Amino acid sequence: MLFGKTILVTGVASGIGARTAELAGQMGAEVIGIDVREPVVGSGAFIKGDLSTPSGIAEIVARLPARLDALANVAGLSGNTGIVATLAVNFYGLRALSEAVAPRLREGSAIVSVASIAGYGWRANLERAKTLTGIEGFPDVAAVVADHGLKNEEGYPLSKELLLLWTMRAAHQPLFKNRGIRVNAVSPGPVETPILKQFRAVLGDARVDSDITRVGRAGTAADIAPAVLFLCSDGGRWINGANLATDGGLEASINAEVLGF
Ligand SMILES: NC(=O)c1ccc[n+]([C@@H]2O[C@H](COP(=O)([O-])OP(=O)(O)OC[C@H]3O[C@@H](n4cnc5c(N)ncnc54)[C@H](O)[C@@H]3O)[C@@H](O)[C@H]2O)c1
Repeated sequence: MLFGKTILVTGVASGIGARTAELAGQMGAEVIGIDVREPVVGSGAFIKGDLSTPSGIAEIVARLPARLDALANVAGLSGNTGIVATLAVNFYGLRALSEAVAPRLREGSAIVSVASIAGYGWRANLERAKTLTGIEGFPDVAAVVADHGLKNEEGYPLSKELLLLWTMRAAHQPLFKNRGIRVNAVSPGPVETPILKQFRAVLGDARVDSDITRVGRAGTAADIAPAVLFLCSDGGRWINGANLATDGGLEASINAEVLGF
């Protein structure tokens, strides 16, 4: 389903991005990887670049080929470097890259972003998410944080709430919709990658352990990559604006508790 396709994967130096790039290559795709860090083991072509600033994104986009078949937005921060950097990479930069890459994506192609169970609260915090996703372009994120009184510890979950809301909006945005570009998200629970230690520090051991206990184990990068690539492929052609929980049943368990069934 990916043979001969050119797939852009961000966050390829580690964890889920590295496994997604490797698996895409094994499935016959040409991979162009992006990361701020040099990968130790490379899969395909690599562009070193910083997705946290408008100029970093412009430099990356200038080096891309004219035609791409999918964009997998995997790069992300845990929140341990502060809310400004986290919102910049996990949402505003991700959105800016997706919008900049859209003209190069062929008709009927796909954008898939790795969100998280941490974005579960988007409905409860809907007004805030509507306001913050309504800010167009790549804003001065420090000013957004100050203007809206956002707290440092909210950075990670907020970034994923915004990503989930934007995924649904983007699926119907003319920039993507008019050319049949599908926009979807994949939401893992805890995954054994270097970022998990940081989540333990940011969210606390109790939250992470409770999530793991509900489903029996943490996920692995190899559990998440196939879901990302399925949504990138033509097999996902009728899936648009969706969030695919890829978490061993964690969201179902939380829904049962929250909704009381
Ligand atoms: N591991 C988990 O428990 C978990 C759970 C849910 C969601 N996620 C999400 O999965 C995605 C991948 O996380 P992971 O677990 O593979 O973490 P990871 O830390 O192993 O990999 C993240 C990658 O993103 C890159 N990156 C960070 N800032 C960047 C920037 N400014 N420009 C370019 N690249 C940058 C890093 O260099 C790193 O290689 C993230 O969006 C994360 O929020 C992870």
